[in-house]
Amino acid sequence: MRTQVGIVGAGPAGLLLSHLLALRGIDSVVVEIRSRAYCEARQRAGVIEDGSVRLLREAGLAGRLDREGLEHGGIYLQFAGERHHIDFRELTGGRTVTVYAQTEVVKDLIARRIAAGGALHFEVTDTEVDHLESERPVLRYTDATGVRHEVTCDAIAGCDGFHGICRLTIPPGLTTVREREYPYAWLGILADVPPSTDELIYSHHRDGFALHSLRSPTVSRLYLQVEPDESIVNWPDARIWAELARRFELPGTGWELKQGPVLDKGITPMRSYVSAPMRYGRLFLAGDAAHIVPPTGAKGLNLAMADVSVLAPALDALLSGDDGPAAAYSATCLNRVWRATHFSWWMTTMLHRTPGADEMAAELQLSQLRYVVSSRAAATSLAENYTGYPPVPAPAALAS
Ligand code: FAD
Ligand code: PHB
Repeated sequence: MRTQVGIVGAGPAGLLLSHLLALRGIDSVVVEIRSRAYCEARQRAGVIEDGSVRLLREAGLAGRLDREGLEHGGIYLQFAGERHHIDFRELTGGRTVTVYAQTEVVKDLIARRIAAGGALHFEVTDTEVDHLESERPVLRYTDATGVRHEVTCDAIAGCDGFHGICRLTIPPGLTTVREREYPYAWLGILADVPPSTDELIYSHHRDGFALHSLRSPTVSRLYLQVEPDESIVNWPDARIWAELARRFELPGTGWELKQGPVLDKGITPMRSYVSAPMRYGRLFLAGDAAHIVPPTGAKGLNLAMADVSVLAPALDALLSGDDGPAAAYSATCLNRVWRATHFSWWMTTMLHRTPGADEMAAELQLSQLRYVVSSRAAATSLAENYTGYPPVPAPAALAS
């Protein structure tokens, strides 16, 4: 078999890349170990930066997002019994984010690739990439019926997430890894109850961080800081709601957290990770395959989209004999990746309770929070990072 770009992974990075390449007339084969139903149901991100929304719109993928996505012009920061609004529109000259679940982005992308006749193979096993230093790298996989395939490509995109195989095929001496694990995890729930808030609430509490997000006018998404090795069996729904209510409570205001049936729950570890460079020969890593951020900054999905918006034109040029943009791919992406890595680390360490931290550390956190909500300069810094920095979309992802 022959294709131009072999893509490993049908998450947001791999699917969006195959669509952006198709717009440029470049064919690809996408292979995915999970089933289509699993990929479409996996609960993850919810916040999309305005640059990512624009990219999806320009790529003709925003029909449902424009109808169902919820535009948000700010967030609340809560600490010491007070809730403060950070107004992104006012601070950044009109920039916003949109709440539209990653599950919906993935559904839209899969539907579009299938409608376009794109090669998209779910439930594959034994994925391998080979001959990465040659001009004809190879992608091998066994399809859902047990048939082994070998696809000769011009380039391979490793979009297979943090636990994928592509990053591991790069000889270890050739990459630099920077990593930080945090001493806590997030317990996330999806609940069949209208949100109790008009904007996301990031709450710092002495017993641990909590986040109130949403999915629609009738469905809420909430998170609780828990121990890193916590087991979900220790968290019956009643305990989760009681803890959430405590961490969001605002005595004397009449505000209450609405509760409802829990539709989904899970625990996510928190990690910062950057593997550089993001290219090895004709293998290009994109999204979580190359970098992970803790979810406090809502950046992971946005970074995955930004990477492939740079990769699509770079591959187009490479296939036409110009290696320049491909040579710049890693450095271009890592500039945004490191900004998001710093912002996510900053939000995370400002808002979470660090086990064993002393009173000095607690006062420093509170001072930082008071500064962010009282200084226009500090609030603007949060707002421009949260809505996406650099603010302009990455270089033209689409064919001109
Ligand atoms: P993935 O979505 O991980 O996709 C990789 C795909 O590759 C998977 O489908 C996997 O099954 C497949 N795969 C793996 N190995 C193989 C193999 N060997 N062969 C074939 N296929 C393979 N980001 C935000 O921007 N905003 C948020 O609000 C946000 N909130 C989050 C909340 C939570 C609880 C979590 C867990 C994450 C959150 N993120 C958020 C991060 C975001 O979900 C990820 O950064 C995003 O999924 C990255 O997309 P990706 O395509 O790079 O990787
Ligand atoms: C979400 O809605 O899932 C979400 C929102 C904001 C974050 C992380 C996750 O920072």
